[in-house]
Amino acid sequence: MKIGVVGAGMMGCGIAETAAQAGFTVINVDTFSSALENAQKCVQKDMEKLVAKGKRIRGEADAVIARIAYGTDMRMLADCDAVIEAVPENLELKASIFAQLDAIVKPEAFLASNTSAIAISALSAKMTNPARCVGMHFFCPAPVMKLVEIVDGLYTAPETTGRAVELAKALGKTPAKAPEMPGFLVNRMLVPMQNEAAFLVMEGADPKDVDTAMKLGANFPMGPLELTDFVGVDIMYNTMLTLYESFHDSKYRPCPLLANMIAAGRLGRKSGRGFYEYG
Ligand code: 3HC
Repeated sequence: MKIGVVGAGMMGCGIAETAAQAGFTVINVDTFSSALENAQKCVQKDMEKLVAKGKRIRGEADAVIARIAYGTDMRMLADCDAVIEAVPENLELKASIFAQLDAIVKPEAFLASNTSAIAISALSAKMTNPARCVGMHFFCPAPVMKLVEIVDGLYTAPETTGRAVELAKALGKTPAKAPEMPGFLVNRMLVPMQNEAAFLVMEGADPKDVDTAMKLGANFPMGPLELTDFVGVDIMYNTMLTLYESFHDSKYRPCPLLANMIAAGRLGRKSGRGFYEYG
């Protein structure tokens, strides 16, 4: 089975790595060759770590790396059996990618979006065959996190959902069906908690204390602010904004501190500074 991944950012790269680790042939496409180069380096680094930890022998790690091909031309995805889109959370961008994939990828393949908040029905609106479009939402870091949320749009065929569930299992993940509502299951609960942590900082709390509280008081592997830096302050803020604009409920109002941090370029680990500084 051949898996296509559109987008070579943190999520796209992680999904491609996950699929290659599960033994699939993978094609990772992005319009930016610099993103593809970074993705390739990232997979190589992860494989080195697994070899150093004794979790993979060198030959296996090399085989994982060799199973992923990279390119900038979407037509490379034509004979994939499933394509997973993981580009930034922009409805227009995603809808246009799905319209292109619908025309390029063989009709018997299914097309999934890793969107964390946008309705599948909206993404598939410009497709000739929206029945083959479904949500498969992975979590960061994709090679490690066990959950994949499966989301049906109004036109998703039951056969497509079944194939997405089977693919998630074949990738070593546990699928959970989520309603087609902004934030699905996890982000609907998790992101407001991260947002509340940002409010605490805005009100004077030290980020370290906020994170320590949740790590030691609630057994979180990472504090909510560490997690925001890890995922990206901009990504987290945009998810919050989507919840707010979709439900029109003030309980989802994004913390203004996050908007200031974005304006100041403090996007988290990827920019070297968020709630914390990174070397
Ligand atoms: N492939 C396979 N295994 C890998 C791997 C890879 N690429 N990278 C790491 N691993 C394994 C490691 O070998 C290690 O296994 P071990 O415990 O058996 O040795 C395990 O994964 C953990 O890795 P590390 O030891 O490097 O790191 P930590 O123990 O510090 O854990 C973490 C890091 C998994 C990120 C942990 O801190 C964590 O779970 N944090 C919370 C993450 C979270 O909440 N994610 C959800 C974000 S929200 C989201 O994604 C939604 C989206 O819409 C934005």
